[in-house]
Amino acid sequence: MLRVAYPATIAPELLHDFPDGVQLIPVSDKMDHDVEIDVWIPDPYSTRAMRTWPHLRGVKLVLSLMAGTEWIPSTVGPRVTICNAHGAHNVSTAEWTLAAILAMLKYFPLYLDMQRSGIWKRRFEAVEHFQSMGGDASQVYPPVLGEELTGKSVLLVGYGAIGKEIERMLAPFAVELTRVARRARSHPEVHPVSELDALLPRAEIIVLILPATAESRGLIGAPQFALMRRGALLINAARGPIVDTHALVAALQSGRTRAAIDVTDPEPLPEGHPLWSCPNLLITPHVGASTPQFSPRALRTAAGELRRYLHGEPLRNVVQAAS
Ligand SMILES: NC(=O)c1ccc[n+]([C@@H]2O[C@H](COP(=O)([O-])OP(=O)(O)OC[C@H]3O[C@@H](n4cnc5c(N)ncnc54)[C@H](OP(=O)(O)O)[C@@H]3O)[C@@H](O)[C@H]2O)c1
Repeated sequence: MLRVAYPATIAPELLHDFPDGVQLIPVSDKMDHDVEIDVWIPDPYSTRAMRTWPHLRGVKLVLSLMAGTEWIPSTVGPRVTICNAHGAHNVSTAEWTLAAILAMLKYFPLYLDMQRSGIWKRRFEAVEHFQSMGGDASQVYPPVLGEELTGKSVLLVGYGAIGKEIERMLAPFAVELTRVARRARSHPEVHPVSELDALLPRAEIIVLILPATAESRGLIGAPQFALMRRGALLINAARGPIVDTHALVAALQSGRTRAAIDVTDPEPLPEGHPLWSCPNLLITPHVGASTPQFSPRALRTAAGELRRYLHGEPLRNVVQAAS
């Protein structure tokens, strides 16, 4: 019998797809005894999962419910195989990205501020915002109170499972899409990350959807912000450390750049952090993947890996093979 530890916070009914031949053991960060298991499904909240880990013995396989697994290798070490929930976050995270782009282009943060202050006339601040972002409103009447996504140039940095879903959702907006990943390829054309700096000046919207790794840390720093056109919109749906926080604060405070970010560095963002008061910035507290459909979908992905593991078949979503 394969012993599988799962977060006690997850309702057992959600595990109905799990194959026969496994013994399900709920574990939590409050546990005060050790358990012998074979497979660990960590709590989606890494801080809770890291508190649980010291009580687990014999773990050979970790099945993460997340797409980003950056904290796991250093916690469990190289002798454990790690799989992620590749594909389970495509729809939710791509929808967040579309919502963030549209909210920023339609100036929803400004209009929500207006609603809260109960002052209709502040809408003319939208014209000032448009002009401060390099827009020419001199020939435009009625005044510019929002912008259009249709036809914009979008630079998609990361062209994996979620990047492809973002492309699918952007299709009705007929954007001019440029794709970037680690490696170049064709059909469709994907540029290597070494060309990022050359591609930045043209982009009106830059979407980050790639993993946090040693190579991607600080990928967007002061030199990259300097290359962006005035009014460029940066969307970070990936991980906070991919953007240099000091450079982001400086770019926003200069009034040249705007951004919507679901992730920050550090996380959670502490009270009083300069990002909280930056202009032209929308922050959501790392919520992009969290929808009611998340747990069933991620657990179905884990159940598939468990079935393959039991049958001795190759696993599909290995991010670290045991050494
Ligand atoms: N905000 C949220 O709640 C949320 C939710 C889910 C996921 N995420 C983040 O999104 C990331 C992507 O998820 P995914 O499922 O799409 O992953 P994926 O399918 O593994 O795709 C990752 C993509 O990033 C590219 N990439 C990796 N390192 C790069 C680098 N240094 N420079 C440029 N491109 C690089 C890869 O290039 P190649 O194709 O050339 O290998 C690939 O195209 C996750 O790792 C996670 O951090 C965030």
